Amino acid sequence: MSDILPEAHPLPPTPPIPPGWEAVLVQCVAAVRTRYRLRWNGLHGVGHWARVLENGLRLATATPGIRADVISGFAVLHDSCRHNDLTDPGHGARAAVLVRQLHDEGILPLDADGLALLERACRTHTGGRIPEVPTIMACWDSDRLDLPRISGIEVRVDWLGTLCARDPAFVDAATDRARRRVFPYRHLFDA
Ligand SMILES: [Fe+2]
Repeated sequence: MSDILPEAHPLPPTPPIPPGWEAVLVQCVAAVRTRYRLRWNGLHGVGHWARVLENGLRLATATPGIRADVISGFAVLHDSCRHNDLTDPGHGARAAVLVRQLHDEGILPLDADGLALLERACRTHTGGRIPEVPTIMACWDSDRLDLPRISGIEVRVDWLGTLCARDPAFVDAATDRARRRVFPYRHLFDA
């Protein structure tokens, strides 16, 4: 009998980063690192951004019309301007300002529609009605699907917008990754 045991709960492969966006995300992370006020590996830090990226790219893969470039930018920027790990209602608006700044500096190669989507997704992601724009809806979903990283918190399916995110199997898989603090795409954040 073999003494090599199968890995417990092997992780499925992560979806690919959109073409050209690995370098973009590395530059965004470097820009954020110089100004981030909280613990880099904290509750709203890089592990969370990485799981939001995986959730979002899975939603983009499964749903026609969702912009994977906007999803990717949202993952690494939406919590980048937090001043605390609690409510901080202004952090989305501050992130939207940073999005515009990074675009103006040539770091975020988004067209006008993509820039508007990313600004709006960041500015509004802290609450309100589920948006009717699929890409923004997926940005919000990708974030909310990682809430179970907080002990005792479950995903609220009625807070999710996309059909794919509402699938119980999708919620279960994201919950498992959140609880296990899985850290995908780590190379983007260690560069
Ligand atoms: Fe978040």
